[in-house]
Amino acid sequence: MHKYVIKGGKKLYGEISISGAKNAAVAMIPAAILVDGTCRIENIPSISDTIIQLNILRTLGAKVNAVNKHTMDIDCRCISSAVADFDMMRRLRASYYLIGALLGKFGTATVAMPGGCNFGGVRPIDQHIKGFTAMGATVEVKNGLVLARAAGGRLHGASIYLDVVSVGATINIMLAAVLARGFTMIENAAREPHIVDVANFLNSMGADIRGAGTNVIKIRGVDRLRGGFYSIVPDQIEAGTYMAAVAGTGGQLLIKNIIPKHLNCISGKLQEMGVDVIDGEDCVLVRRDKPLHHANVKTQPYPGFPTDMQPQITTVLTLAQGTSHITEGVWDNRYKYADELCKMGARIRVDGRAAVVEGVESLSGATIKACDLRAGAAMVIAGLCASGTTEIEGIEYIERGYEEIIDKLRAVGADIQCVELPEPGGVIPEAI
Ligand code: EPU
Repeated sequence: MHKYVIKGGKKLYGEISISGAKNAAVAMIPAAILVDGTCRIENIPSISDTIIQLNILRTLGAKVNAVNKHTMDIDCRCISSAVADFDMMRRLRASYYLIGALLGKFGTATVAMPGGCNFGGVRPIDQHIKGFTAMGATVEVKNGLVLARAAGGRLHGASIYLDVVSVGATINIMLAAVLARGFTMIENAAREPHIVDVANFLNSMGADIRGAGTNVIKIRGVDRLRGGFYSIVPDQIEAGTYMAAVAGTGGQLLIKNIIPKHLNCISGKLQEMGVDVIDGEDCVLVRRDKPLHHANVKTQPYPGFPTDMQPQITTVLTLAQGTSHITEGVWDNRYKYADELCKMGARIRVDGRAAVVEGVESLSGATIKACDLRAGAAMVIAGLCASGTTEIEGIEYIERGYEEIIDKLRAVGADIQCVELPEPGGVIPEAI
């Protein structure tokens, strides 16, 4: 068990290079199940979520060889079972992609209900199931397991209208449809950059997917996919998190290896707050040397402001002049972290999906908890901005999604360390 210790109040200066997109990687790794051949996937972020996905493939019988830290050769031709490791599956949300991939390839899948970050309520998969059922599968959820079976051993194409814009359901139905018999259309599809990336990956292996990035995706089933190689796009949310960090601390960061268009919404909001954001071809320069202005933020599916940046931007707004209004438009409850910020002197009132933030002059260091991945990133930003020392517990959440966050931040002047927590058995804080 570890915690982060941050001595805050230092401006950030320098360059940070962004890793591959987590939410594309966690879909592309199971997508390799559909391929008859070796896929070489480059730019996989080295984080616990991708490590677990790769291990799940190994336990299914796939050959996974690391070419280097970020490049894997995956050959799923020797997979012998469509029953995924339940313990590993429960450790991450994106394990639901195993259902679409196994069902599409073998006509059957037995997997555990996905785990992952909990935003205070159930994270349903009814839209995924609606899609698989329309394609001819029977899907049963029993004792924490999802059991899916295609009639006749192979799915068929279908027209599926998603009742909510869902990233996971869009990708999962796409995975199930690439080898299905006939034509599938997904309407009201999500449009996030990682959806386009997964479609490009599958197309580069021989799939026929059109319209990814719009709200109607059309998939013509093919008989097989061949091996190939593919490089994952940069992580839009990791980039946005460091942009928010320098907006909070002040200073200047050149954030490299990004696609500026994917960040338009975040850049626009930071500019509204008085931050300079200058796009380069594959980088963005972010500078803050003036006081921050308040702003209103409403999260929405892409191309709206990403929900996965809501805790980070809210944290920066705690230090802005005036009152900011935040509306969470994707998840029912994503403000669990607000109490932690209030311990540091922030003034936030939460009411359902809305939060009102009264800007304060400064935050002060405290012992706080990361309650999920992006909330954890927000705690790091708070610690960097605060005076004094901040200790962050629950950092395993942060390490699910941010590659080498400590090294990246230290290289631009942050005073942050990862230290070991005392072994349980003595007097530990929770026990007092
Ligand atoms: N929803 C349903 N039914 C479904 C699926 C979703 O009602 O069958 C609802 C959810 O309850 C939520 C909304 O639809 O209110 C959107 O959920 P979505 O399915 O888009 O979320 P997800 O696929 O479970 C992915 C990301 C999340 C990110 C959301 C929204 C992955 C592995 N996770 O989750 O990322 O917040 O899309 O953009 O891609 C993160 O990276 O920190 C993270 C949580």
